[in-house]
Amino acid sequence: MQASGETVSAPDQIDKDASAALLRWYDAHARRLPWRRLPGEARQEPYRVWLSEIMLQQTTVAAVGPYYAKFLGLWPTVEALAAADDGDVMAAWAGLGYYARARNLLACARAVAEAGAFPDSEAGLRALPGVGDYTAAAVAAIAFGQRAVVVDANVERVVARLFAIETPLPAARPQIRAATDRITPEDRAGDFAQAMMDLGATVCTVKAPRCLLCPLRSVCAAQAQGEPERLPAKAAKKAKPARKGRAFWIERDGQVLLVRRPGKGMLGGMRALPDDGWAARGDGAGAPPLEADWRSAGAVRHGFTHFDLELQLMLCLGGDWASLPVGEWWPIEDIEAAGLPTVFAKAARLALAER
Ligand code: ADE
Repeated sequence: MQASGETVSAPDQIDKDASAALLRWYDAHARRLPWRRLPGEARQEPYRVWLSEIMLQQTTVAAVGPYYAKFLGLWPTVEALAAADDGDVMAAWAGLGYYARARNLLACARAVAEAGAFPDSEAGLRALPGVGDYTAAAVAAIAFGQRAVVVDANVERVVARLFAIETPLPAARPQIRAATDRITPEDRAGDFAQAMMDLGATVCTVKAPRCLLCPLRSVCAAQAQGEPERLPAKAAKKAKPARKGRAFWIERDGQVLLVRRPGKGMLGGMRALPDDGWAARGDGAGAPPLEADWRSAGAVRHGFTHFDLELQLMLCLGGDWASLPVGEWWPIEDIEAAGLPTVFAKAARLALAER
């Protein structure tokens, strides 16, 4: 018989203790972020939550801050964004990367403006362009107070450690989601999700986690085993393939020729330097856009999600202006305002140094 007075916590009590401890920690330590309402304040409006969550996909909090402010300044409501010019939105997004997000952002704003409001359910949000499982759950929880299970990379790390899940990522995802579901509270799911993100970003970090500061220390299985930084295990990454390409700097009277990339595909809809079609071929042997004397100015390197690119930059020293590609002459002194994606901004800086 069990001695009277001894308390043995059942697993679901441990789960409840974990979420309560985390929310208490969040009440004291929530990061102040531009898109965030602190615990106890009225909920943030859905447009701002959605905009920030789209920007935060694969992008750090520090990088997103200025873009979030710029977008809200230019387009303070979803209706204003829906009415924006596509090129202006692509240019404002330049530098943030993953440009399909910007195209989907516009498509989504237009769908929401047409419908009159953001849907308030996870399933309704999931049906919008560019809104995946993570974003639908985050917006449902943070903007609408729904109980939704929000799992991003920070949450994955915290949960893999809390439950000592040994299965490597990405195979561990269903297990991690089920475990996150177990500890997600009925109330304050939005605060809970953001608390998990903050914990992952500031305490349960990839390297050298600060377990002494952690509100989940007493219930964390990986901490008890003594090597929390080992988790989550990751399947070995395949090496990224390398591609080569060429971009062309064509200059006349203080202006450079820029083109608009086709709507779909790599960097679709963005302004760019003319290039040799590396996005499709990648061997660096595509033809220049006109007959000219070309001089190599060296190369820039850029890492995309699925490949690394080495882009040779060719300077035009004079040629057959009659056969120019369709584009716009852009004042070189104003090149920063062209909204070039990072790989072409790097090439433009190289051209300015080498011409
Ligand atoms: N990363 C993604 N969404 C976030 C949020 N709402 N707060 C902090 N970090 C985040």
